[in-house]
Amino acid sequence: MKFPENFLWGSATSSYQIEGAATQDGRGPSIWDTFSHTPGKVVGGDTGDIAIDHYNRMPEDVQIMKDMGLQAYRFSIAWSRIMPEGKGAIEKRGLDFYSRLTDQLLEQGIKPLPTLYHWDLPEALDKEGGWLNRDTAQHFADYSAVVFETLSDRIDTWATLNEPWCSAFLGYGAGIHAPGHQNAAEAFKAAHHLLLGHGKAVEAMRSMKPEHKLGIVLNLAPVYLIGEAPADHPAHQAIALQDAMLNRLWLNSILSGEYPSTLLDLGSVFTSSVQEGDLAQISRPLDWLGVNYYQDSRSVPDFSGSTSGYIDSTGNGSMPGSQGVKPAPAVGEITDFGWSTTPDGLRVLLESLDQDYENMPPIMITENGCAYDDPMVDGVIDDKRRIAYLTDHLKAVSEAIEQGVDVRGYMHWSLFDNFEWAEGYSKRFGLIHVDFETQKRTLRNSAKLYSKIIRNNGDI
Ligand code: FCB
Repeated sequence: MKFPENFLWGSATSSYQIEGAATQDGRGPSIWDTFSHTPGKVVGGDTGDIAIDHYNRMPEDVQIMKDMGLQAYRFSIAWSRIMPEGKGAIEKRGLDFYSRLTDQLLEQGIKPLPTLYHWDLPEALDKEGGWLNRDTAQHFADYSAVVFETLSDRIDTWATLNEPWCSAFLGYGAGIHAPGHQNAAEAFKAAHHLLLGHGKAVEAMRSMKPEHKLGIVLNLAPVYLIGEAPADHPAHQAIALQDAMLNRLWLNSILSGEYPSTLLDLGSVFTSSVQEGDLAQISRPLDWLGVNYYQDSRSVPDFSGSTSGYIDSTGNGSMPGSQGVKPAPAVGEITDFGWSTTPDGLRVLLESLDQDYENMPPIMITENGCAYDDPMVDGVIDDKRRIAYLTDHLKAVSEAIEQGVDVRGYMHWSLFDNFEWAEGYSKRFGLIHVDFETQKRTLRNSAKLYSKIIRNNGDI
């Protein structure tokens, strides 16, 4: 495997998944506190109240990163630590935490890569409509400006949102993530306001320091229909809609300033919140694109005649793009999440991004990883399947680079086992195992191998 000389090797986490300290130092509640404390929403009734207590163990955790040889650390900032009410009063102790984290990382020679929003919207803003309220976009830009003002003297590379597809479609469409709504029209509205918030945050930060590197992190994947269906079967439309929702909604608006026609064709259910000038705001030039990739997306035609997934004119019902299709059986080594392992999809994705978008900025893989819970034997966790996943995906990245795709770095998800959203602590993604009772951290064999990969710039 060959990687460019300055290729950046790191690993990623997010605030609610690791920090714990839910009420410490003036932190306000977020929608994930409310959601996880609602019975039945998270496996095992788990919450992020304590998580892996990173908030209190940060110096020790940075030392582990240093020992592993990480060159970069992608983390997210909890909006409700900085502004407990989502707007207005600033909590200095929250800002101080991220300032200390930044200093520790820099002291150890690790590049800080913050993401300003990884799904933990302040609860106070949800009470005002959350991402359904256009004002939330402005509040996000205001909050971003406060953080940027404090840390941009030491941090030059920033991401606005993490995976807005999940915020919009899992949070407001499928209802499996906070705030748990199930309405397609709401999902589209939330998507637009998230994008608007991204654009406004870019504008605010750019006006302060034009030379800083601003980007966004998207979860993207090739979307396939597996198997045959007659030309008039709704599966074809569903696949087009899935691709539009997962990939083109974000890429086309951000890079080309327009929404894909597949979505515009849905009419007011999609367009009702779009105002003049919004797309110009959304498509401000970016310096980099973060790509999160886990598996490609596969569906098979559904011949049962079920009408589930059709959107009515009010957007009521289920996820758009599910009509006439069912998820295809997983392929490759199946992870504890039930996800497929499809490394070649990452190569296909990277090459198609490069081909389809003329103004594609440099790409960074900001997440990629798998959930496996291999046993610890005499203090050793031999997670062979994670090692295979890691190396196979790195191979795909190196092949894309060889084909001319400008990929600048790779952040493995995740550095630590953590609170895996609706799955609670039941899914372990870490290079580092965490005993959630004792908070003991143990490097899995994959972590040790990753250190070697970093030292040799990709060579194993
Ligand atoms: C991504 C999220 C991340 C983590 C992984 C498994 O969608 O960004 O927080 O949950 O999936």
